[in-house]
Amino acid sequence: MGYPHPIHSSETPVLSTHFGDAPARTVAGWQERGGYAALKAALAMAPTEIIDTVKASGLRGRGGAGFPTGLKWSFMPTGDGKPHYLVCNADESEPGTFKDREIMRWTPHALIEGCAIASYAIGAEQCYIYIRGEFTEPWSIMEAAVAEAYAEGVLGDHAMGSKHRIDMVLHRGAGAYICGEETALMNSLEGKRGNPRIKPPFPAQAGLFGRPTTINNVETLAAVPHILTRGAEWYAGLCAGNKKSTGTKLISVCGHVMKPGNYELTMGTAMSELIFDMCGGMRPGRTLKAVIPGGSSVPILNAAEADTCILDYEGVVEAGSMLGSGGMIVMDDSTDMVYEIYRLAKFYAHESCAQCTQCREGTAWTTKILARILAGKGTVEDLDLLLDLADNMTGKTICVLSDSCAAPVVSGIKKFRNEFDDYLTAKKAPVLVGI
Ligand SMILES: Cc1cc2nc3c(=O)[nH]c(=O)nc-3n(C[C@H](O)[C@H](O)[C@H](O)COP(=O)(O)O)c2cc1C
Repeated sequence: MGYPHPIHSSETPVLSTHFGDAPARTVAGWQERGGYAALKAALAMAPTEIIDTVKASGLRGRGGAGFPTGLKWSFMPTGDGKPHYLVCNADESEPGTFKDREIMRWTPHALIEGCAIASYAIGAEQCYIYIRGEFTEPWSIMEAAVAEAYAEGVLGDHAMGSKHRIDMVLHRGAGAYICGEETALMNSLEGKRGNPRIKPPFPAQAGLFGRPTTINNVETLAAVPHILTRGAEWYAGLCAGNKKSTGTKLISVCGHVMKPGNYELTMGTAMSELIFDMCGGMRPGRTLKAVIPGGSSVPILNAAEADTCILDYEGVVEAGSMLGSGGMIVMDDSTDMVYEIYRLAKFYAHESCAQCTQCREGTAWTTKILARILAGKGTVEDLDLLLDLADNMTGKTICVLSDSCAAPVVSGIKKFRNEFDDYLTAKKAPVLVGI
């Protein structure tokens, strides 16, 4: 098939089984592949039974924080008589992460089915899928799939011929990274500026339109039908020993490896196996220097840390970073770490919603100071200033965008200090001019 790379023997395809398989995009095609059986079964179950199954599977949120999905669903009130909402976060703007778009491109009905099951489980008749504005192709594929799901009676007043109403609306973002943050996303859906909200109240208490809301990532929701069809025990068993991280995870690998792309791994796979075996290792004549493992918002790992890192929620923390959304940026020895960190800081400064002072000023100043260093005009004091700024940007704002900017700076200075010193001592020629 046309998918970028054939499935590697060490992968565990669950969500990616039909990547590259275009006929899976229709309702009939999805049903031929076993699709919609889980939704049919779910609609005959009690909502609590579904939530218990998801809890038992150990599924945790794939959007970045790794929060247990079944537990999140159980926070939704019951018998309150208010409208409930499910929101699917398909904003996927985290640098280095490109898996949700592939789920939508190839298996739109996997997502629709997961959303429908989750909606029913949390007592929501209305689901919104918030899709990143730049996702032109995933958007049109999802649009066609939702229209067909209505036409075939999968969605609507009598979903799958049941007595339950499940409606689904696609909403297209306008190109703001911050709108991936769950409460900013809800504001954006409501037609307001996409600024994060202070929590509490949490979405399960007062979310979209002030109503009880559950928000989940695309990959999280797409895993749910498989859990119902194949059982919680099967899913919980997909791990290499650590029972706190279960199932499979789509890891997007980009950067200086021979075969970048999405790889679906059982939780607990070694990062070195992914880089050197599945991805074909580094470019010829190059060696591994660093990995940012969780999308760009997490601390950088050096080569030694990456070498021993186990890819699950706990394993990456133990190595010194976080699994996050599972977007791995791999860098070889040709990489200028100071410049890379500057590029990331520039991204966060551009994407800050500017609501919190620490973030608005911190991301901007971090970028300016790094630019000064790269222009050969930095001083040793600048490194202390960057660390001081990072301290003020961590754990002090409404959302964690500023923490995300600080993480690569702090870990970069700690692990690649010599590269900063080379600019400060003029050992390396400036790479930015006109600053
Ligand atoms: C600045 C920022 C951007 C985020 N972007 C995304 C995103 O694009 N997609 C996503 O699923 N989660 C994103 N998140 C995490 C969401 O706030 C939320 O935790 C997630 O959608 C919950 O779903 P899950 O429990 O299934 O992971 C972002 C968080 C922050 C702070």
